[in-house]
Amino acid sequence: MIIDTIPTSPFADQRPGTSGLRKRTTVFQQPHYLENFVQALLEEAAIPRDGALVVGGDGRFLNREAIATIVRMAAANGITRVVVGRGGLLSTPAASHLIRQGAAGGIILSASHNPGGADGDFGIKYNASNGGPAPEAFTNAVAARAAKLTRYHIAQLPPLDLDVVGTQRLGTHAGGIVVDVVDPVAAYADLMASLFDFGAIRALFASGFRMRFDAMHAITGPYAREILEQRLGAPAGTVINATPLPDFGGGHPDPNLTYAHDLVEELFGSAAPDFGAASDGDGDRNMILGRHFFVTPSDSLAVLAANATRVPGYARGLTGVARSMPTSAAVDVVAAALGIPCFETPTGWKFFGTLLDAGRITLCGEESFGTGSDHVREKDGLWAVLFWLNVIAARGESVEAIVRAHWAQFGRHYYTRYDYEGVASEAAQGVMAQLRAAAPTLAGRALHGREVASADDFRYVDPVDGSVSEHQGVRVHFTDGARIVYRLSGTGTEGATIRIYIEARETDPARLGLDTAAALQPLVDIALALGEIAARTGRDAPTVIT
Ligand code: G1P
Ligand code: ZN
Repeated sequence: MIIDTIPTSPFADQRPGTSGLRKRTTVFQQPHYLENFVQALLEEAAIPRDGALVVGGDGRFLNREAIATIVRMAAANGITRVVVGRGGLLSTPAASHLIRQGAAGGIILSASHNPGGADGDFGIKYNASNGGPAPEAFTNAVAARAAKLTRYHIAQLPPLDLDVVGTQRLGTHAGGIVVDVVDPVAAYADLMASLFDFGAIRALFASGFRMRFDAMHAITGPYAREILEQRLGAPAGTVINATPLPDFGGGHPDPNLTYAHDLVEELFGSAAPDFGAASDGDGDRNMILGRHFFVTPSDSLAVLAANATRVPGYARGLTGVARSMPTSAAVDVVAAALGIPCFETPTGWKFFGTLLDAGRITLCGEESFGTGSDHVREKDGLWAVLFWLNVIAARGESVEAIVRAHWAQFGRHYYTRYDYEGVASEAAQGVMAQLRAAAPTLAGRALHGREVASADDFRYVDPVDGSVSEHQGVRVHFTDGARIVYRLSGTGTEGATIRIYIEARETDPARLGLDTAAALQPLVDIALALGEIAARTGRDAPTVIT
């Protein structure tokens, strides 16, 4: 095997954000850009010679080319076995599962819910042997290495056929690499069958229950077809937009009320099916809809926690739960009722990893349409959909009835998020700096008649490994249980995005059915004034409200 060592000049901007290194596709197409980062990543990962590396992506533009490069670089860096999804495809949760089946680590190519295509975004992320996103210490070390690198290694290999399942040996026996091209769906579908009552869900569909799943032209199409339509007997056509496209059909593969508008229109229309769901570019996010009913991700986590023992995989109960800091406290209330711990972590799935590995939590979730459990180390879109189907089958009730019963029992957390996208970086930094400075002075003050109980810049100490993460967002708690959170996005590729998260808790039975926007308007006014949003950003409205 001939290995070329190519000189490269370092890139100072290869610092991973909330979820891997994410940039415009054109940035990744610069000469040596991808190679530089992969070299730094492989050196830091130090995969043992007998360890396998899982590689796959969400099928976006550049996926196949990047995989070919990564396989040649893996070979040149002493890795002897790579496992790749057929067609280069692996959903993020399926990749996590494959890694957990015995690989040393994995590289996932995705920019998640960001648009794809030549003028969209691309991304690359490393997951460790537990199947979860590498911790911050690792990603910081990769960034430091990438900023110093002067050369990378790449092997000359015969071409890899990504479209045929089976084992290919590339290069000479002594120095070559073995590539296992695997069915991207099979192992994941088996895992789902081991967790959920497929018999009960099959009976639900057989009884005429109607569902629509929107794969948004992204990775979950093949997974949803196999599991919902093949194994569970949902009628053909239940899954729409099911073929992964390099540009996601020109869409924005983010399952929320704004971007999954066709699905939302159908579920709120006159011939609405019983259940609607969607997933994102790489298959780790989910949106849950009932007939004429939207389930907030924060509520979804709480409902799943409260109903977990109805599902075979969780029948023994939960050891604990966790939510990201900006996620509503709905699940906290369930945890208290169940007598189990509830952890509040910074935004980003990587912070759940230590708690899951230590067996201290079973379920976890984020307000950003992410829900998951200890079955893998990523959030998992289809898993959440199947969990809901199992709960619906077990309770014999509609989505709306399940959620309204939940509110009646535990109270309701009205919740909304305002996003200001593409704000100039200095303006966004200014908003946060002002809030950080103000936070220590807020406790005890009345804002529009609401008293602040406490305010701080969230600092997280990981209860398992003691690692500390500072400046994770400004929290303002009110004495009535309401809360406002401000933070900057760590996944954007252009300018800055300010996120404002607003929630209010309601236990009065007469006030459980209000319109969310109306219920939260007073708090929204406080949030915008306190953040000096209009004055500092020049924006009179957010880009997206969820
Ligand atoms: C966003 C979400 C966060 C999620 C991440 C990756 O990050 O807010 O919850 O973990 O995408 O899907 P942000 O852009 O806010 O940093
Ligand atoms: Zn995603």
